[in-house]
Amino acid sequence: MHFKSKLPDVGTTIFTVMSRRAAEENALNIGQGFPDYPIDPRLAAALNEVIAEGRNQYAPMEGTIELREQICKKLAGCYQRQFDPHTDITVTCGGTESLYDAIQAAIGPGDEAIIFDPAYDSYEPAVRLAGARCIRIALAPPAFRFDWDEVRRALSDRTRLIIINSPQNPSCTVASQDDLDALAACIRDRPITVIADEVYEHVLFDGRRHHSVLTHPELRERSYAVFSFGKTLHATGWRVGYCVAPPELTRELRKVHQFNTFSIASPLQYAIARYLSNYPDAWQGLAAFFQAKRDLLSGLLRGSGLEPLPAAGTYFQLVDYAALSQEDDMSFSDRLIREAKVAVIPLSPFYAQPPRMTLVRLCIAKREETLRSAAERLTAFARNCQGARALPGR
Ligand SMILES: Cc1ncc(COP(=O)(O)O)c(C=O)c1O
Repeated sequence: MHFKSKLPDVGTTIFTVMSRRAAEENALNIGQGFPDYPIDPRLAAALNEVIAEGRNQYAPMEGTIELREQICKKLAGCYQRQFDPHTDITVTCGGTESLYDAIQAAIGPGDEAIIFDPAYDSYEPAVRLAGARCIRIALAPPAFRFDWDEVRRALSDRTRLIIINSPQNPSCTVASQDDLDALAACIRDRPITVIADEVYEHVLFDGRRHHSVLTHPELRERSYAVFSFGKTLHATGWRVGYCVAPPELTRELRKVHQFNTFSIASPLQYAIARYLSNYPDAWQGLAAFFQAKRDLLSGLLRGSGLEPLPAAGTYFQLVDYAALSQEDDMSFSDRLIREAKVAVIPLSPFYAQPPRMTLVRLCIAKREETLRSAAERLTAFARNCQGARALPGR
């Protein structure tokens, strides 16, 4: 065979695999992170309007100025900082493209990038396609805290990039101001760029505040901060995200972006810009909205044997099935699909070397009836497991 794979060990992502299995088994899919409820009808109306107005040709490579200006207004409101739409903001195909472009811009052959496990699955393949290598540091369950001493030990002359994600998928933890300070101290006087995956910037619970690299005086000078309208506007299928970075970093990112996707669907950009201009606070209720969903699902599961872990943010809720089974998470997840008819996401695919753990990830970005019905199926399954265990001779 003349063709040599550049990513021979990379298969289909666990999200696609579990969604496919859910469809095959006719299971309720609370695995993959997407809402099952409609977008704001005013956003849908804005899209219809801009299409009818003829906003249907190529958008500028860096994004429409209307959208970039709205992004700057939003950033000023959230992070009390002024950004320049011409030099600091690039609109991309979801947060995923921002991550990919930033990785290609920041590192090359022979370089090392530090990422934290359990890690979102797009980081490592993008690092490898850049010719670089990932050093993976585990955030150990159940607390999933950063170990900055370990990070310092992992730094080498080749380290050029550190990727952090807060609020973190799938651990549902959030970075503190101390974490950002520790990160800044680690990379001070070293040629290291940061990518901050902040796509869940508005989904923090129990009064927590998001600590963005954009608010950190040292980190913002050397960071690509990545955001997603998919998450903020409940429109994951629109695939609109953006990257915020200082001008010299943005310039390099755009060199990749312009030959990757060139530009993002223009009607979607005009529609989001119009929507944000008319309803600048549209995203304000997100934390309360998702907190209610977290409380509903975790309240229904607590005591069932599928024990919810504390969740500080994101679209997700981890549950520990140790009381029901010691199976590995891949086979337990497959059993949930077959027997409970509920699809979840196992955690081990997020690790280079999964620790022993009995955790699966549920998505809370679902209608109340979906969450109730998933919880009913899961608690019935858990009762069956416990009943089977209680039988004599088992
Ligand atoms: C941590 C994290 N980063 C990035 C992304 C990608 O965002 P987008 O759907 O905007 O590409 C996701 C999506 O699930 C995510 O969970």
